[in-house]
Amino acid sequence: APAAPAYRIGFAQCSTNGPWRQAMLAGMERELSFHPEVALKMLNANDNSAVQRQQIRELLDGGIDLLIVSPYESAPVTPAVEEAVARDVPVVLLDRRTASPRYTAYVGGNNLEVGQTAARYAARLLHERGDVVEVLGGPGSSATTERHQGFVRELGAHPGLHLVGQVTGDWKDLALRPALTALLRQHPGVGLVYAHNDAMGRGAREVCQQLGIANRVKIIGVDGLAGPGEGIDFVQRGVLTASVLYAPGGEEAMRTALKILEKQPFRRENTLGTLVIDSTNVLTMRQQTEKMNSQQTDILRQQSLLQRLRATYSSQQTILYGLLAS
Ligand code: FRU
Repeated sequence: APAAPAYRIGFAQCSTNGPWRQAMLAGMERELSFHPEVALKMLNANDNSAVQRQQIRELLDGGIDLLIVSPYESAPVTPAVEEAVARDVPVVLLDRRTASPRYTAYVGGNNLEVGQTAARYAARLLHERGDVVEVLGGPGSSATTERHQGFVRELGAHPGLHLVGQVTGDWKDLALRPALTALLRQHPGVGLVYAHNDAMGRGAREVCQQLGIANRVKIIGVDGLAGPGEGIDFVQRGVLTASVLYAPGGEEAMRTALKILEKQPFRRENTLGTLVIDSTNVLTMRQQTEKMNSQQTDILRQQSLLQRLRATYSSQQTILYGLLAS
């Protein structure tokens, strides 16, 4: 029988909707494939804070050695996360934050920087003059608040740019469409839409197409994920003008979690870098992600080869011991 896991990690995930969250989990599993002694249990809150709160308590009651949380909204999930800390269960916040400094480590992009980067790039695209519109992510999440704050702060340094309106898209492609259509009709001079993720950027693009203004409105998204129908692909096909890279950070979160569990030194703030993906570097980005994926496939093939060799070895041993015993 397999040995009991040395460590149990609970993962309170706000949502498993969409490839970005799937990439996050895949990253964790990739790291865990080198650590068979660790068991991971993920609960999906389906974009619901009450559910997520309850799931955090469920994970704690079930007995875990460490909690990873990607909070749907900051404030409502904070008490449950603080409870984990109070119970001496270390907490790694991943991608989004709670409203409290009581956690063990944070892993994720700097969302203020994401917003700033988007504003600086917008100013360049518009040659320092023009009207812009913002499509916000889900209300109450730290990613939304910070992506907005960073954007507005940087716009302060570009007085020719005017933020003329906002709509809430809740991270999804469809919800934003009626409000954005109305807003763009109201402000026919808008030259750029900044969407808090690529899915909403694509929605914005379709709205512009329907209004017949797609060739004069530039669109910036966030995430820059690889794969068909994702950010890198959108930039390459001209669906988006640019995407600000925001890495899912699954591997990094798991590495930090393992350091904490093994009582090794670790950093409390682990900021993943960002960059603008546009027509000038999209090919390089694409080639690099494809190369990484094929290397990953090789690693998995080697792992399964190793497993097969081990299985052969142990069955040969069984035969050998059988012969010796007879
Ligand atoms: C996925 C997502 C990403 C975004 C991140 C922010 O659920 O909406 O598109 O970058 O969450 O937390």
